[in-house]
Amino acid sequence: MFKRIPGTKDILPDQIDVWQTIEAISREAFSLYNYREIRPPLIEEASLFNRSLGDGAEIVQKQMFLIQSSSDAFALRPEATASIARAYIENSLDKTTGFTKVYYMGPMFRMERPQKGRLRQFHHIGCEAIGSQDPALDVEVIALADKLLKAFAIDGYELKVNSLGCAKDKSALSDMLRAGLGDKLSGLCDDCKGRFERNILRVMDCKNEACRQAVEALSIGNSYLCAECNEHFTRVTAGLDALKIKYERSPSLVRGLDYYTRTVFEAVHKELGPQQNALGAGGRYDNLISQLGGPSAGAIGFAFGMERLLLVRRQETAATRTRLVYLIALGEEAKREGVKLLESLRAGGVSCDTDYENKSLKGALRKANDLGAACVLILGEDELKKETVMLKDMVSGEQKEVERGALAAALQKTLC
Ligand code: HAM
Repeated sequence: MFKRIPGTKDILPDQIDVWQTIEAISREAFSLYNYREIRPPLIEEASLFNRSLGDGAEIVQKQMFLIQSSSDAFALRPEATASIARAYIENSLDKTTGFTKVYYMGPMFRMERPQKGRLRQFHHIGCEAIGSQDPALDVEVIALADKLLKAFAIDGYELKVNSLGCAKDKSALSDMLRAGLGDKLSGLCDDCKGRFERNILRVMDCKNEACRQAVEALSIGNSYLCAECNEHFTRVTAGLDALKIKYERSPSLVRGLDYYTRTVFEAVHKELGPQQNALGAGGRYDNLISQLGGPSAGAIGFAFGMERLLLVRRQETAATRTRLVYLIALGEEAKREGVKLLESLRAGGVSCDTDYENKSLKGALRKANDLGAACVLILGEDELKKETVMLKDMVSGEQKEVERGALAAALQKTLC
C-alpha cells in the first residue's frame, strides 16, 4: 500500500472548511488593501532561488527539492517572493502596472526533517508590494499582517520588528559580528560555527543559549544602521505606534534570506514550541528586483504558514448543520422522479444530494444526519401519487407533507 511522503498531508474533505475560511478571510482583507491575486508556477529554475535567497541560506543549502534534467536544474519553489520578483520583471509589470500589489496562496516545498509545524509541503498565504521604498508602505504591510492574524481568530502572538539596514549596513553588521565572535567560536553551537563562514547574520537569531549570550554581550543593537536607514526605521515604528499596533523591537531578528534589507518582521507564537515558532514573516527586499535584472524597485511582503496558523487558531464551535437538503427516494419510480426534483432544486440554488447506495429509510436518514443535512425530503409511493414530498427538519425533528409546488418556499423557510 502506498503512503504519503513524510512531511506531506492529505487535506481531507472534513478538514477543508477551515482552510476555505482562512482563505476567504485572506482574500477579503487583501482586497481591502487593493492587492490582486497572482499565481506563479510551482517550479522555477533552481538558480533563481540561489540568486535571490543566497547560496548560504539554509533553504538553498539543504532544503531545495531539485529536479535535474540533462541540461537544466529546476526546483519546486521553496517560497514565492523570488518567483514573484521574476514574474514582475519578466512581465514588465513596472511598465504596465507600475506600483504592484499582489497576493498568493499555495504550496511551497522544503526538504525538512518533518515535525510539528515543519513540513516538506506546506502552504503560504502571502503578499508582495513592489515599487516603493516609502516607510508608510511598511506600516501598511505590517498592519495588514496584524489584521489578518486577528481576523483568523489567533491571539497570543507577538509581532517582532527590526531593521537590517541597506546592503552596506548589513555588511557592517556582519563585520561587527565577525570581529566580536571570532575568538568565541569554540563556545558557539555547531550550526553557528558553520554560519560564521556561510551566513554570519544567522548567528544573531540562534536559539541556543550560549550563542544568544555571546551575541548579546556584543551589545550591537541597531548601531550598524546608517542615518538614512535609521530615519526609515524611525518612521516605520512611529507609523506602527500611530496605528496602536502592538510590536516589539527585536535587534536579534535577522531572517535567513539574503534578499532582505531594512525592515524585517515576524509573528511568533509560543504554542508552536521554541524551534519553529514563526506563524509568518516578511520584510523589505529593495535590491532583489534589480539584482535579478529588473529596474530599481523597493519592495516588501510577508507570508504566513497556513499549517502553523491552524495549529494555534482558536477553535470555533463547529457548525453542526450544513445547508444540505438530502433526498430519500423510495422505489424505482420515486428515484426517477427524484433525479428531476434534485435538478430543479439545484437550479434554484439549493445544495442537495441523495442516496446512491440503496440504503433503507433508516440507513439513509442516518447518512443524512452524518452529512449534517439541514433537512430531508422523503419521496415514496404515497407522495408520488399526491404530488407531494415529506419534509423533515433535521434540527427540530418536525416532519410535514408539502405540495411540490410549495416546496421551494418551504425549504427557504427551513434553511434560513
Ligand atoms: P519564511 O520565513 O521562510 O519566509 O516562511 C514564512 C512562513 O512559512 C514561516 O514563518 C512559517 O510559518 C512557514 N513555514 C516555513 N517553512 C515551513 C515548513 N517547513 N513547514 C511549515 N511551515 C513553514 C518566506 O518564505 C518569505 N518568502 C516571506 C516573505 C514574503 N518575505 C517577503 N515577502
